[in-house]
Amino acid sequence: METDVELTLQKKSPAGVKLECLVVFSVAQKPLSLDSIRDQLPPEAAAVMERAVELKTFHGKKGESVQLLTPGGSASRVLWVGLDKPETLTREIVRRAAGTAGKALAAMNISAAGVLVPSLPENGPGSGWAEGLAEGLALGAYKFEPYKSKEVKPGDEPPVELKKITLFDPQGAMGQPAMEAGAVRAGAINLARDLGNHPPNTVTPRRLAEEAKSIAKKRGLKITVLDEKQMAAEGLNMLLGVAKGSTQPPRLMMLEYRPKGATATLMFVGKGITFDSGGISIKPSANMDEMKFDMCGAAGVLGAMDLIAQMQPKVNVVGVIPAAENLPGGNAQKPGDIVKAYNGKHVEVLNTDAEGRLILGDALAYGAKKFKPDAIVDMATLTGACVVALGHYASGAITNNESLQEKVVAAGKRCGDPVWPLPAFEDYEEGIKSKVADIQNIGPRWGGTITAGLFLKHFVGEIPWTHLDIAGTAWDVEGVGHIPNSGATGVGVALLADLAAHWK
Ligand code: BES
Ligand code: ZN
Ligand code: ZN
Repeated sequence: METDVELTLQKKSPAGVKLECLVVFSVAQKPLSLDSIRDQLPPEAAAVMERAVELKTFHGKKGESVQLLTPGGSASRVLWVGLDKPETLTREIVRRAAGTAGKALAAMNISAAGVLVPSLPENGPGSGWAEGLAEGLALGAYKFEPYKSKEVKPGDEPPVELKKITLFDPQGAMGQPAMEAGAVRAGAINLARDLGNHPPNTVTPRRLAEEAKSIAKKRGLKITVLDEKQMAAEGLNMLLGVAKGSTQPPRLMMLEYRPKGATATLMFVGKGITFDSGGISIKPSANMDEMKFDMCGAAGVLGAMDLIAQMQPKVNVVGVIPAAENLPGGNAQKPGDIVKAYNGKHVEVLNTDAEGRLILGDALAYGAKKFKPDAIVDMATLTGACVVALGHYASGAITNNESLQEKVVAAGKRCGDPVWPLPAFEDYEEGIKSKVADIQNIGPRWGGTITAGLFLKHFVGEIPWTHLDIAGTAWDVEGVGHIPNSGATGVGVALLADLAAHWK
């Protein structure tokens, strides 16, 4: 499923190299001057860029980009992208600007492009910019088109795919390790995007397990997959209950990364509902297709495991993924059903559309018992209420341990997956007490993200745990440079890997 553009680094200037497009990044200055890079540019390119400054078409501001055609010279086009004021530059601003460039290049109908690597300070708020630049280019260039027929109509030009971006780094400002780290991170994020974007008749629970196996094999991770019979023997009844309405059997995947010398263990759990119709509590039909993205938590955990296996942090990491399809059917779970969860609690299912917390509850309790992790983070497209609360630019967090949550928020800040904590006060617990069982799977109308999170809390025991609700951030996030304007975002891949890399 890999769709990545290839990045290569050359320690020389792009001047004189034949290029379909040369990308140049500049910080905002008044007046904007090309002095520091003029000798690295083809003279024809420098001339049109100077003209653009004269005509006030480009200032180097954040979010700014212009395409200029050069009258001859070695580069046919220049794509000039603004970074920001140098004093407020961050890694994330560079990643987004590079994402904007990657997106524009992918839309240009060219197969290869060059980038002049800017020389930015390695210290201060912009530190890590080089990695962010490489990552942003590869993320921005991402396209998902395996279902678009390649057939060309007579008279039409065949479409050209962007395959290669060469980074020209005459001053050695970026270096090979930073470029590789950025490319590897983008590769894992794009892998998660692919999994999310494939349709629900392709990515079924069994297919998700096959993909997990191929990732595990490629990266040397241990993997165990439970089928429905093994789940029944283990008593994973909440997971089985959700899957009952579908002919597609559920799966529980467990991937293990265990480096030598590691003592601590992190457990990441991702919601893998490959399609959420709501079940008997069926959803309205408008936009129901979007519920193919209800496995983006699972995709995020798989992407993170792929990335962690390559980054090699010194901590054990297990990825646990419950996968099922939530459909109505003659054998489907009904509102009012009471199921006995893996941890022995009785759960009244009052709404079959609140299915994510059911499959996660069993996965959390099972994983906690089997792997005895020091900390757990789960990631799920859990509630529409979270989209209402936070929109598309931050994931919601609920925790039983403030210090773990702080680490999760910090990881999100470092890598550009923003997280916003929500209160998990005891008062909210009342809302999920059942009249006839231990707990029920829905709470009052308001505060739905919190009650969903507090439901999960019943399945982690005393282990430090943070839940991330990615309902708003997992797909269709518009206007962010490195994120596609529609489809899966790959949210959480970088965050979980970063949390593991900084674990102490
Ligand atoms: N997968 C949905 C949550 C969702 C909805 C994510 C819209 C993104 C966009 C989840 O399984 C669900 O249906 N939740 C219900 C819970 C309710 C029945 C308590 C919801 O949010 O409406
Ligand atoms: Zn649902
Ligand atoms: Zn769901």
